[in-house]
Amino acid sequence: MKIEFAATLPVADALVIPVQKNGLDTAIGGRSGQEVLAAAAAAARFEGEAGAIAEAFVGADGAVNRVLLLGIGDGSETDWERAGGAVTARLLTNAISAAIDLSAVQPSPAAVGRFAAALAQRAWRIDTYRTKLPEKQKPTFAEATIVGAPDGAEAAWQHNFAVTGGLDLTRTLVAEPPNVVYPETFVERVLASVDGLGLEVTVLGPDEMRELGMGALLGVAQGSAREGRLLALKWSGKGAGDPDLALVGKGVTFDTGGISLKPGPGMEDMKWDMGGAGAVVGAMKALASRKAKANVIGVCGLVENMPDGNAIRPGDILTSMSGQTIEVLNTDAEGRLVLCDCVTWVQRTHHPKAIVDLATLTGAMIISLGNEHAGVFANDDALADQLLAAGRASGDLLWRFPMTDAYNKLIDSPIADMKNVGPRGAGSITAAQFIGRFVENGVKWAHLDIAGMVWADKAGNTYDKGATGFGVRLLDRFVADNYEG
Ligand code: BES
Ligand code: MN
Ligand code: ZN
Repeated sequence: MKIEFAATLPVADALVIPVQKNGLDTAIGGRSGQEVLAAAAAAARFEGEAGAIAEAFVGADGAVNRVLLLGIGDGSETDWERAGGAVTARLLTNAISAAIDLSAVQPSPAAVGRFAAALAQRAWRIDTYRTKLPEKQKPTFAEATIVGAPDGAEAAWQHNFAVTGGLDLTRTLVAEPPNVVYPETFVERVLASVDGLGLEVTVLGPDEMRELGMGALLGVAQGSAREGRLLALKWSGKGAGDPDLALVGKGVTFDTGGISLKPGPGMEDMKWDMGGAGAVVGAMKALASRKAKANVIGVCGLVENMPDGNAIRPGDILTSMSGQTIEVLNTDAEGRLVLCDCVTWVQRTHHPKAIVDLATLTGAMIISLGNEHAGVFANDDALADQLLAAGRASGDLLWRFPMTDAYNKLIDSPIADMKNVGPRGAGSITAAQFIGRFVENGVKWAHLDIAGMVWADKAGNTYDKGATGFGVRLLDRFVADNYEG
């Protein structure tokens, strides 16, 4: 989507007039077609609620103009975001261009940035595999011109434009089928997408990982015909040196459960079990695209979890890169096995002060929080608070869970240092405790369980149903607010 800022209204397929809640008279008063607009609003029972739209065709000088009255609620940033997404949802397949007239409503620069971002982000979809899509269902909406924006709005959009590029990458990786995106091709896709942005790339294959002793990650990978990979993208926007922050993502490109095989119905969902890794690469792309003044490394553990003659068994004991041993009681608790070696690798090789990992780690997370918040687990209150604040500011919402020694004990093993599953209760917490055992003293760490957030059955403000790109806006906001000072 091309978004432009202009001083005067261009000719466009649709003119968009924002309307505050109960502000209809102010918004349309004195405009040509005022009576038609008022009638259209009445017929649609339009009251300016955020995201509501009333449409009318207004005659002027022999021409007919399509006008959208667009509800912006009380004009909060979130309301503007909802409004932007609603415009794109409405025009996606039936207009090419829109002009948005902000002159009467005076939003803040940040609100316009959010609005523009939602316009662009709501347009993403994947039609690659639809060979019979009727012409009239193909997206057409490609150009929005914003008129009357305040100073600073365009800069806010430029920031969000970079984030949108990252989001698109994440969503594509998440939505692609698992026979197309697997560890090797995940890496290829990412490298093609971030080429020229100045990220320092490291890719480890099975031989290198074996050399490093990454027995936990490799244990998961060994049941698959596809090789595992570790992908690291380092952004040094503050100058040379170790990164202050490491982002670590679970990249299970397909999770059958392994020998502890998942039931058939719904198993196809497990193509998005790489959503954590997807968010990490999307965020890294966003940071590099906007040249963030921060030093951050993104690490993805990429494997496919398959049942096979060579797959790990329940009862197997794996030795992780940290040296700690793990009794595998359930091969479907594979995410933590992948993450623990990535966490050790990034600490040993890059010495970050803080680590945030993202993973579609547990079904239990969806039982706790549904599809409204991701869970946050942390060994540091300040870090948790920073993430919670970034969540509220970005719209990628988080909710904190406890971590204690009592939970940690639940994964002690009678034969190894730990087992990879705890009892039935508190499944998301014991999963977090497991990863926590690999975090070295003095390193601040937070784990985000995003199992309920990566994929949506219904459209949201900034996404259609399907891949949401959860985590990209959150991580970008978190870095902007805490690492670029
Ligand atoms: N990838 C799944 C978690 C998941 C389930 C994410 C459903 C999204 C939707 C993870 O690898 C898994 O299988 N976890 C197990 C852990 C259990 C065996 C302790 C689970 O949640 O059932
Ligand atoms: Mn699993
Ligand atoms: Zn999984």
